[in-house]
Amino acid sequence: MTGRRPQKVRFARPPRDAAPGDAPTPGADLPYGEVRPAPLPPRLRDLGLSARTKPGVRGFPGVDDAQALLAQTMRKDRVSGDVLDLTAMGGLLASLPGVTLRAAEGSAAALTVLEAAGLDPWPAAPGDPAPWNERARTVALVLAGDRGNAYALSQVAWAHACTPPGGTLYLAGDRDKGFDRYVRAAGAAFGTGEVVARDGGMRVARLVRRPGPTPPVPDPEGYEAYGVRVVGRPGVFSAARPDKATALLLGTLGEPDWSGREALDLGCGAGLIGAWAARRGAAVTLVDGDLQSVRSSRDTLAASGITGEVLHSDVDAALPPERTFDVILTNPPFHVGRGVVLDVAREFIAAAARRLRPGGTLFLVANEPLPYEAALRALGEVRELARADGFKVLAATRAG
Ligand SMILES: C[S@@+](CC[C@H](N)C(=O)[O-])C[C@H]1O[C@@H](n2cnc3c(N)ncnc32)[C@H](O)[C@@H]1O
Repeated sequence: MTGRRPQKVRFARPPRDAAPGDAPTPGADLPYGEVRPAPLPPRLRDLGLSARTKPGVRGFPGVDDAQALLAQTMRKDRVSGDVLDLTAMGGLLASLPGVTLRAAEGSAAALTVLEAAGLDPWPAAPGDPAPWNERARTVALVLAGDRGNAYALSQVAWAHACTPPGGTLYLAGDRDKGFDRYVRAAGAAFGTGEVVARDGGMRVARLVRRPGPTPPVPDPEGYEAYGVRVVGRPGVFSAARPDKATALLLGTLGEPDWSGREALDLGCGAGLIGAWAARRGAAVTLVDGDLQSVRSSRDTLAASGITGEVLHSDVDAALPPERTFDVILTNPPFHVGRGVVLDVAREFIAAAARRLRPGGTLFLVANEPLPYEAALRALGEVRELARADGFKVLAATRAG
């Protein structure tokens, strides 16, 4: 065992503005896949706004703080008509009076919510050309500064490309996640703009587009490891090098011969784990809830000359019900925004229980303090294969 340090893990806060005496979050006990109303801060409820949500949607169980300020600002500006929302999440902006929302999203979980709301969402990632002939004159976007500089800059470039000359962009974000820097980049491209709302660390800027070129989208990063060429598009987890936990998982598994086995990479990111399993003989399926990650994984398989299926999926929702595997591998997500949210990771384990064939094994790597063992025991006997550098590798084999 090397360099073990106790880790601090901060669990997600309750939604801002929730008072101590407030009723418990509605729907907290609902099944993972169920769409439910999002509890809103009183200042949004008072404006007559509403949104839906489910686990896996940014801001869950409430709404994202920056999107909340964005909605409040657009309401104050009496924005109406067609609005292109490039980060629609649970569809909050659709509840602005007089607004017809064109909802773009890259999160499979959010797409489920938007579909349930009848919004006919557009599954999209930064750089995609909008599918409508006529461009909306108002565009809205929440910067995901937590996904890194390259992703936020590709969001700015995308927003610019989607806003017609003379049109308005509402850009929201978090001061502590580089908002000022990204607004400067947006201001240089748009020609004009100012910060029009502040609430705590949240900010909203309004920019009007003057004619001029759209800034370039940053190039993908990537690396070679384990005989695989990984292509990491902007914003994809561990785009430039293997994650330490993932490396521990693969190092622990060594060189298995998985010829004739079917393997699932659950939450594939740039696709390293799935591609690694394919190199060891497995027929591989990779799934991720984030469209940018799905594309990255497809690029990785293509660049490595590997055949495999890559699906955009909220956990295993896109797989046919009868689809099962001999091996499931995962480094599950536990961050959505600032805190630790385990609903998605727990659903990864539940999905493994549904998808493993008898005798099949789930291999999972996690930060040491994360309490996955109890959930894993529902699958079968749990073994700890390794513990190092603050991570642990667990295996659970389905009885049978
Ligand atoms: C810790 S990263 C691991 C990525 C990759 N397997 C690796 O090891 O580098 C977790 C991945 O889970 C994905 N994810 C998050 N929520 C998800 C969901 N609801 N359904 C499927 N994948 C999800 C994230 O997009 C991210 O790529």
